[in-house]
Amino acid sequence: MANIVRNVGALRAAVAEYRGSGERVALVPTMGALHGGHMALVDAARGAAERTIVSIFINPTQFAPTEDLASYPRSEAEDLRQLAEAGVDLVFMPAPDEVYGAGFATSVSVAGPGAGLESAARPHFFTGVATVVAKLLLQCLPDAAAFGEKDYQQLQVVRRLVRDLDIPCEILAIPTVREADGLACSSRNAYLTPAERAVAAGLYEILQAMAQRLATGGAVITEIEDGMRCLEQAGFDVIDYLALCDGESLVPLSELHDGARLLAAVRLGNTRLIDNVAL
Ligand code: PAJ
Repeated sequence: MANIVRNVGALRAAVAEYRGSGERVALVPTMGALHGGHMALVDAARGAAERTIVSIFINPTQFAPTEDLASYPRSEAEDLRQLAEAGVDLVFMPAPDEVYGAGFATSVSVAGPGAGLESAARPHFFTGVATVVAKLLLQCLPDAAAFGEKDYQQLQVVRRLVRDLDIPCEILAIPTVREADGLACSSRNAYLTPAERAVAAGLYEILQAMAQRLATGGAVITEIEDGMRCLEQAGFDVIDYLALCDGESLVPLSELHDGARLLAAVRLGNTRLIDNVAL
């Protein structure tokens, strides 16, 4: 069983003890319902530091009132079993009151990479993420923290946040872990019906085909239009966005350049899926 702490004081005491022995610390922030993607972050964290801490906190401020906070998948016992097996030293599982105490009034808002894409459909989202990530990094003060490329815009928001607020932490970017058919592992995949699950794999397939055509000279506007059509034909109900963007600023591009990223968000029944590929 991994060691569980539920308050910031105990977290800081444990980190101080590790540091006292000259050990480095890596943090993996999560909302639980752990899958292969999360465990790849844990492996990277273990490679980067002597001590690995995983936080499990379903952060209420990144959910809009209409979103799935109440029904977000929870699998605490299974999560703790996996983390113990992976050799995680400490699991930080604060209650909402520990993170957002009475009178809590501060929020961290990241413009630049935080604008557009996810923010168009979920304007509250990155402020909630940036606020909780800033808090977790300041509570733990890890040498490194791991984030997945699956949530590519979130990764760029976190990089910007750490740079802008001079938080002394290296951000490790971990490639997306996928199911055998290419669907990116996600806690929310559990919401998909079998019929939706069959359609869902098409998202990565279509993005990859688009990336291939763009890399071999396809015009950006034409490829985006074709890609939209392919997504509709594949059975996705709504396309929130499909865009080629600069890989760091996430500014939309009308011409391909180095480090560009193709990003999409689609809806399938009640489930929203996001994915992205490098070019
Ligand atoms: P959560 O969705 O639990 O994801 C935790 C971390 O796992 C994120 O860095 C995410 O990008 C990464 N991840 C998820 N699926 C992945 C996959 N298939 N391959 C690789 N990495 C993957 O993202 C959050 O939680 C929250 O917003 C959080 C950062 C914890 C702040 O509340």
